[in-house]
Amino acid sequence: MAFAGITGIGACLPEKILTNFDLEKMVETSDEWIRTRTGIKERRIADENTAASDLATEAAKRALEDAGLKPEDIDMIIVATVTADMPFPATACIVQKNIKAVNAAAFDLEAGCTGFIYSLSIATQFIENGTYKNILVIASDTLTKITDFKDRNTCILFGDGAGAIVVSRVEEKGILSNFLKSNGNGGDLLYIPAGGSRKPTTIETVRKKQHYIQMNGSEVFKFAVKVMGEAAESALKMANVSLEDVKMLIPHQANQRIIDAAARRLNISRDKVYINLDKYGNMSSATVPIALEEAVKMGKIKKGDIIVLVAFGAGLTWGANVIKWIK
Ligand code: ACO
Repeated sequence: MAFAGITGIGACLPEKILTNFDLEKMVETSDEWIRTRTGIKERRIADENTAASDLATEAAKRALEDAGLKPEDIDMIIVATVTADMPFPATACIVQKNIKAVNAAAFDLEAGCTGFIYSLSIATQFIENGTYKNILVIASDTLTKITDFKDRNTCILFGDGAGAIVVSRVEEKGILSNFLKSNGNGGDLLYIPAGGSRKPTTIETVRKKQHYIQMNGSEVFKFAVKVMGEAAESALKMANVSLEDVKMLIPHQANQRIIDAAARRLNISRDKVYINLDKYGNMSSATVPIALEEAVKMGKIKKGDIIVLVAFGAGLTWGANVIKWIK
């Protein structure tokens, strides 16, 4: 069997920053409330000319450069997103065109904020079964485009960004395990009511703001605390790795209190948990690869380190990957 491992990584964040103080002028909220309830101080916002594919393209170019590969070396492109440029064509196909990855198959994967975890798992299968050599896994989301900035329950949480990795056929096993799970019964805790085939967009749906994210925050919170720890433990068990051997846990960056509760449950010390949500907020599927890229850039992750990636999201979905950093 062939082995899969991460050979390149890149990220792209919009330049525009929206701070909690800016939000104070938009809705009835305060910097203090947002910081203490979520840990978020500011987030990045894609401007009106920037779509998910634009951020994805830049992140992909950086990951390719880091891997030392040319676009034509890529066999497959998977884009995890809930904010595709449009229902079709797939955002992955737009990225393929932009970077000129002429030999690739390309498709989008929708698993809410767990999209990157799912996509890495799919890429692992195609590498391990010998079908492909190099796969671009990109997570790109522009949640601020589907957020009602008059709704203080949601608008304080989200930001935009993209992260990308190249998963390649390698000599040493770099992806140690992938654990995926979902429970469709919780679909209505976090969803967008209109704009699909159930309720196509009409003037009425727009008037009722049904094209924006609707969320039951406290129920999502309880679910997240429960499954983050479970997912990490399950993936570690599958990889036959003990928590003591883990250098760093990179969780989905939704809420500081969710991360703290998951860390407590796992009994992992806070200095082993990577957190950057204060700067970026919840960027859906993009939070995990962006945090991974940042940790690598800062020298916090070195060759041979074992890392756990864990996320939860709409669906409901959750999952974790255990990886060994092989670069
Ligand atoms: N500013 C000030 N007050 C607020 C704000 C705000 N921005 N938002 C809500 N409040 C108020 C509420 O109205 C409520 O007031 P009330 O008691 O008078 O009714 C009070 O603050 C407490 O509200 P709660 O909802 O109980 O606050 P909670 O501590 O649960 O925090 C939060 C809310 C931050 C949303 C939390 O529930 C959470 O993080 N949930 C998980 C969200 C999440 O991770 N979503 C994932 C989305 S991923 C994706 O797929 C897009």
